[in-house]
Amino acid sequence: MKKLIALVSTMAMAVSLAGCSSSGNDQSAASASAGVSGTFEGTAQGKGGDVTVTLTLTDSKITDVSIEGKDETPGIGDTAMETMAQEIKDSGSIGVDTVSGATVTSDAVLEAAAAALTSAGLNPDDYKTAVSAATAAGDVTEEADVVVVGAGGAGMVAAITAADAGKSVIILESQAMGGGNSVRSTGGMNAAKTVYQDDNDFDEAAGVEKTLKTAAEKYADNETITALAKTVQEQWDAYQADPQGYFDSTELFELDTMIGGKGINDPELVKTLCENSADAIDWLDTIGASLHNVAQFGGASVKRIHRPVNDEGKTVAVGAYLVPILTQNVEDRGITVHYNTTANKILMSDGKAAGVQAEQKDGSTLTVNAKAVVLATGGFGANNAMVAEQNPALDGYITTNAPGAQGQGIVMATAEDVGAATVDMDQIQLHPTVHVADDGSANLITEGLRGDGAILVNKEGSRFTDEVGTRDKVSADENAQTDGQAWLIVDQSMYDASTVIQGYVTKGWTVQGDTVADLAAAMGVDADTLTKTIDDWNTCVANESDPDFGRTSFNHQLEGTMYAILVQPGVHHTMGGLKIDSSAEVEKADSSVIPGLFAAGEVTGGVHGANRLGGNAVADFVVFGRIAGQSAADYAK
Ligand code: FUM
Repeated sequence: MKKLIALVSTMAMAVSLAGCSSSGNDQSAASASAGVSGTFEGTAQGKGGDVTVTLTLTDSKITDVSIEGKDETPGIGDTAMETMAQEIKDSGSIGVDTVSGATVTSDAVLEAAAAALTSAGLNPDDYKTAVSAATAAGDVTEEADVVVVGAGGAGMVAAITAADAGKSVIILESQAMGGGNSVRSTGGMNAAKTVYQDDNDFDEAAGVEKTLKTAAEKYADNETITALAKTVQEQWDAYQADPQGYFDSTELFELDTMIGGKGINDPELVKTLCENSADAIDWLDTIGASLHNVAQFGGASVKRIHRPVNDEGKTVAVGAYLVPILTQNVEDRGITVHYNTTANKILMSDGKAAGVQAEQKDGSTLTVNAKAVVLATGGFGANNAMVAEQNPALDGYITTNAPGAQGQGIVMATAEDVGAATVDMDQIQLHPTVHVADDGSANLITEGLRGDGAILVNKEGSRFTDEVGTRDKVSADENAQTDGQAWLIVDQSMYDASTVIQGYVTKGWTVQGDTVADLAAAMGVDADTLTKTIDDWNTCVANESDPDFGRTSFNHQLEGTMYAILVQPGVHHTMGGLKIDSSAEVEKADSSVIPGLFAAGEVTGGVHGANRLGGNAVADFVVFGRIAGQSAADYAK
């Protein structure tokens, strides 16, 4: 139930009501007018807490707007509030569109704005049509060296890179705000041989040996995996003979990525991803983004995922951290971003990409003529019809994806006159820990929790899988449990160390208990079974051995107050997409490139094979975003 509080701002300076006596304030400008002037607040319940809208009225016209909601989702809700404040101010109306992907926050903004008007003695219905609505601007043509389609992670990285190479760049974004799926990314970025991998206490043996065993037992016929495993074995033998520093290698990262992808990944793309990952971490540092907390994630043999932390040393969500920094870097370079602008056609000239045509919010057409085009439109996880066409079993599935992940880039590039090929379109990943909130939204619960020590139990209170196994395996095991759901359990020490977990609790997604029996009662599972499960798990941690499910990362024993979140699998990543080479050039079916057309991020296929490892999406968008931006800039010379 939404709560609604309307209160007249204590900041109100001058109030005079049309047709009523003055409020007693003798400000002459206000009393001389026929309308209401002053500042007025309204508050409504948002996604994480109160959202407060402050309207400044001059003669009953909205002349300024500010919106606060400190507990709205970072990078999503707060961006929506900023966008809506500007739109309400520009239009003088509260009849503005909600921001897709942030509907709960948007609804709260509209409700709070209406309350502010009510508190001013005005009728909110009178403010539901724009009083100064921009008229359709008409069709427009612009020129740039490079046009980037999509302002998610890959698009912004490509744009920054092309701009730094001296090129003029325009970005088109279909949504009202940038960030795409990247801003929802919580875990971190995989990278090997970085300056930050220095945890000498980490016991690499279990993970590395398990991976080498898997390579030998399951992938003896896969030449790439066998060759990588041979190299890693040599590296591992040398390390054991003289264990200096932290063990990781780009080949081990490649091996993990290939095994994670069930061996069908494009080996050249995997090599490019892994070999450029450490440099990508360094590059992020140069633009003000530091990912220096290194942890364990599913499918990785060693600690390799790089995460941001806040000033108190607590881990924070990687997307909400990176996207504002990328956005700032885009702004600092003077790159134009057209929001609410949906590209629908790649312009071709003599067989080369020569620009993009797009539809703007008012229905007019924006044409950008450019020497090079970078597609960074993301995947198609939010387009359930397209998902179900590829995999009918996923018809109606919930998704963690941003609403803009509609597959537009794939549709445009595969048009007959462009001729791009696709790969692995039917490879669609389920993420095993997605929480459906009371408002019906599907929310990613980061895999990082499992890497940091969380366990999964079914509705009977028992573990059922290796929690840090690959996502396809954990999701399949979860689907086999009662209702296809499970409880993810974390403890107080994890809560204390993570603003991400604290956010889940604030949003009301968890149940908790100071004792295991209390927790069991809150979860509705048998207390004795849950007690035995936690005790058994803590014994596994003490022995660093998990005889039932073969988990190799143990972290710490679960103790004290515990929190549980109900989760189920949801569509998370579409591994298939446009066929590219290691320079991010888009290819036709015969592997010839389409001159001037480049792509990066989830719109592409081949990097992740049949299953993407957690932490490899951010690695993908930074590494290939940089390559696409540089290739486009080189081509545009
Ligand atoms: O679980 C997660 O935090 C997701 C990370 C990813 O998909 O890379």
